[in-house]
Amino acid sequence: MKYTRTLLLAALLVSLAACTQPKPSTVGSDAGIEKRIEQLLSKMTLSEKIGQMNQVSVGGEVSNYAEAMRNGQIGSILNEVDPVKINEFQRICVEESRLGIPLLVGRDVIHGFHTVFPIPLGLAATFDPALVEQGARIAAVEATGQGVRWTFSPMLDIARDPRWGRMAEGSGEDVWLDARMAEAMVRGYQGTDPDGSSMAACIKHFVGYGAAEGGRDYNSTFLTERQLRNVYLPPFEAAVKAGAMTLMTSFNDNDGVPSTGNTFILKDILRDEWGFDGLVVTDWNSMGEMISHGFGVDRKDVACKAVNAGVDMDMMTFGFISHLEEMVASGCVKESVIDNAVRNILRIKMLLGLFENPYVDVAAGQAVQYAENHLDAARRSAEESVILLKNDGILPLDAAHVGSILVTGPMADAPHDQLGTWAFDGEKSHTVTPLMALRERFPGKVNYVPYGYSRERRTRFDDIVSAARRADVVLVFLGEEAILSGEAHCLADLNLIGTQSELLVALKAAGKPVVATVMAGRPLTIERDLPNCRAMLYAFHPGTMGGPALVNLLFGDVNPSGKTPVTFLRTVGQVPMYYSHTMTGRPYKGETLLNDIALEAGQTSLGNTSYYLDYGARPLFPFGYGLSYTTFDYSDIALDKTVYPADGMITVSFKLANTGAFDGTEVAQIYVRDLVGSVTRPVKELKHFERVALKAGEQRTVQVQIPVSELAFCGLDGAWKVEPGDFQLWVSGDSDSGQPVSFKVQ
Ligand code: GLC
Repeated sequence: MKYTRTLLLAALLVSLAACTQPKPSTVGSDAGIEKRIEQLLSKMTLSEKIGQMNQVSVGGEVSNYAEAMRNGQIGSILNEVDPVKINEFQRICVEESRLGIPLLVGRDVIHGFHTVFPIPLGLAATFDPALVEQGARIAAVEATGQGVRWTFSPMLDIARDPRWGRMAEGSGEDVWLDARMAEAMVRGYQGTDPDGSSMAACIKHFVGYGAAEGGRDYNSTFLTERQLRNVYLPPFEAAVKAGAMTLMTSFNDNDGVPSTGNTFILKDILRDEWGFDGLVVTDWNSMGEMISHGFGVDRKDVACKAVNAGVDMDMMTFGFISHLEEMVASGCVKESVIDNAVRNILRIKMLLGLFENPYVDVAAGQAVQYAENHLDAARRSAEESVILLKNDGILPLDAAHVGSILVTGPMADAPHDQLGTWAFDGEKSHTVTPLMALRERFPGKVNYVPYGYSRERRTRFDDIVSAARRADVVLVFLGEEAILSGEAHCLADLNLIGTQSELLVALKAAGKPVVATVMAGRPLTIERDLPNCRAMLYAFHPGTMGGPALVNLLFGDVNPSGKTPVTFLRTVGQVPMYYSHTMTGRPYKGETLLNDIALEAGQTSLGNTSYYLDYGARPLFPFGYGLSYTTFDYSDIALDKTVYPADGMITVSFKLANTGAFDGTEVAQIYVRDLVGSVTRPVKELKHFERVALKAGEQRTVQVQIPVSELAFCGLDGAWKVEPGDFQLWVSGDSDSGQPVSFKVQ
């Protein structure tokens, strides 16, 4: 008896110790930093603590903010990128304020700083996390070279509605791809060992923002907790596990609660479940917008709701700096809540080494901008981001024997628009457009006839068409201006704007080979354009080096390898349409469509499944789709077992052969389906992808290990677990091809 009692006591002590053990820091803090935080916090007045929670977008003269900084009323600034001014801001805070706490300097470095990479949707199309990480590292080197130490990136919003302009800024529709891209960008921005080039990442917009009703930005979302846990939260959890230092709350209200005042997501999930000990910042005035939402009566009310829900820093509402002190006095907010917010802020500043070195070396920082290796990485990222949607064999063009080239279209020479949305610090003077790259490579062979979006007059076509008749090949660059995607830039019509489609028809009628390239911030509905070109490349705004990248692809120096990170619709009326949908009780079986049959009197039925009479229920191009100049063949797909334990490991092997005449890289994708669950499950979910480079004629056996735990989901009982039962697994080059192999989880 006594022995049992001792054992029980020991077990109790062990479990008590575990409870008191601090959770491991997700941002990489340690006991030394935590001790420094407590020492500094103990010296701070309430006013100075609240000052750290105040972020201000600055502009103009430094002197306008000097007094507030001397009084410790500003903890962070955004939108200053002049290193001399940033150093002056820091000097005032460090040398003229009472406690010398340095500023955290933020900026939207979304897909590159000066050297602009493809927009994030294009980066996702590379399915190349290593390359994306390299690009983020380069962005950090350039941005920190000018004093920026915090970027409001990566954006993790799963987006399944291309009407929403911010689809451009994220990694598309898929959970697995989004999570891998998020991890890559966090690692790239922050670096492995925070040093002078380490830039704090900010995972945003937490959470569910991409599900805005109607695809209209800032609109309400109505996601269940299960949808949040199975689709919208996993990329954020992956980014937190990757060490993301900060997080931004989203504008939307979900199920009636604005994220900036949502205790469930900001405390229960983010802090308690995930143990996140980084900094939570609001989106721009998203605290103040809770008044407009009807979630608070005034700025005092919403400030109270935000800080008590778990917000640490206020971007541009001035709610904390204006009201927190009186709210502590009134008891609405406990000072301990403020202490925790300030701890999170000081932790990031200390991790970045800002106390040791708050200043930027201006000369050294200038030297790294647009470095050759940066431009090279931007070009390679653009090359890998481009998707070959159609090719009747006209591509690749023969550079050695090409004759005269007609170049036209609104994106042929659009140095600003080619950079895409959220390219604040990209300088169009550094953009290399397709026209510039073609002229450099084929001097004397390029005839350029400009065509702008606004030219509605048919007469403009006459000179372009006559030029086409004189050319050997027509390269037309179409798409949408950068301003048509990004924040608040949503579209209800996804066709090529203006008379671009008509231009394509006219060019085809000229009788010469027409190759179209589309540059856009979203998947446009280009079905009607495909018949009017012999080949089509699709580039999500490819950035500074988009021109050379596209020329290398058009002439075969590089073989396209991009894959669609979002579903391409046949018409906007199909939205939302994405590959990982549920089966429904009446799945579409490919029934005949309205326009395929005569409408005879007395028709009794046109089908009774989930589809559109006029457009069916299949997209134009599925997720994960992209052609190559060569062909790939998958065979011998096998699993090492047929039955796995819930904690087991699935070993998948398959042969991949390059069966064509060009060397190329295939993005091999592995999808899994859980056939029966306690809740209905998607027909497919991506669980692995990898780029496999193969020479013409080469074949390789590839082996992949997938933990069974990756099949877990939030089921009917709300628990996150793998449910036993039957599964199917596909290995293929897109989400809509291949034959499944079956296995069980017991
Ligand atoms: C904007 C965006 C957010 C951005 C912030 C700062 O409104 O929603 O993504 O980081 O303000 O510019």
